[in-house]
Amino acid sequence: MAMGTSTRKLNIGMIGFGSFSHFLAKTMMKQGHVVRATSRSDYSHQLGTNFIRDMEEFMGLEHDVILICTSILSVSEVVKSLPFHCLRKPTLFADVLSVKEHPKQILLQEVPEDSDLVCTHPMFGPESGKDGWKDLNFMYERVRVRDEDLCSTFLNIFECEGCKMIEMTCEEHDRLAAQSQFVTHTIGRILSEMQITNTPIDTKGFEKLVQVAESATNNSLDLYSGLFMHNRFAKQQMKNLESALQRVKRLLEARMLRENGDK
Ligand SMILES: NC(=O)c1ccc[n+]([C@@H]2O[C@H](COP(=O)([O-])OP(=O)(O)OC[C@H]3O[C@@H](n4cnc5c(N)ncnc54)[C@H](OP(=O)(O)O)[C@@H]3O)[C@@H](O)[C@H]2O)c1
Repeated sequence: MAMGTSTRKLNIGMIGFGSFSHFLAKTMMKQGHVVRATSRSDYSHQLGTNFIRDMEEFMGLEHDVILICTSILSVSEVVKSLPFHCLRKPTLFADVLSVKEHPKQILLQEVPEDSDLVCTHPMFGPESGKDGWKDLNFMYERVRVRDEDLCSTFLNIFECEGCKMIEMTCEEHDRLAAQSQFVTHTIGRILSEMQITNTPIDTKGFEKLVQVAESATNNSLDLYSGLFMHNRFAKQQMKNLESALQRVKRLLEARMLRENGDK
């Protein structure tokens, strides 16, 4: 089936119901899919009886898709503790973590052989996606897919909202995300440490920097730490940032010495 054409409604089970899951669930439900969730904390006030506290009961429901939305730091512990024996049928397992090699490896290790796997990263969040998902990037890798129809129906949730669908390996994602997303979060955190705020004489460039600082700190520290600890390319980018700052500083100092020497 071509993507973008499905009308099939899915039973989606979310594991981890924090802020990003809430945000995704709203659109999934708007499209007519049934969303049930479980999480470490109690979210029954938001989802009513579709929030299932007991993990065995949750896994025993006939989900078409189980979507892992937990933090990067907790995914290993969470997935390894899932009672897979309670699954009633082969299920598509998907994740939305902001690093990709790490969950791929865990899911390949833990998910039963007869269930399919797709690793994804919606490259947007509750703030950047608040006015819709049109033209926002959505990365995915079909890691182990036999039920093409089910996988396409799941991916179609994002495609039919207008996301730009980008298929690439988890390794390629992590290499690129370290130099784009991780660097953005790090600059944002540095600017926030500097306590930058708007001034009456802001340039457009500075207004953007204030936004970068705000959006970096709107995300949890768990998320940012996960980007560093579980993307093997991030440490090199941190070193690149440090050495780039030193080079820029040396450039200015050398220029100042030259100017002073000429006088
Ligand atoms: N925020 C974004 O813009 C964005 C965009 C794309 C992808 N993502 C990914 O989406 C996932 C969720 O992100 P988030 O923004 O909601 O915040 P997050 O801080 O990365 O994750 C919060 C979620 O992790 C669960 N959790 C944390 N520690 C846990 C533990 N020790 N055991 C079990 N569960 C634990 C929380 O459960 P409780 O709420 O029940 O405590 C909550 O569901 C992350 O993997 C993130 O990388 C986020």
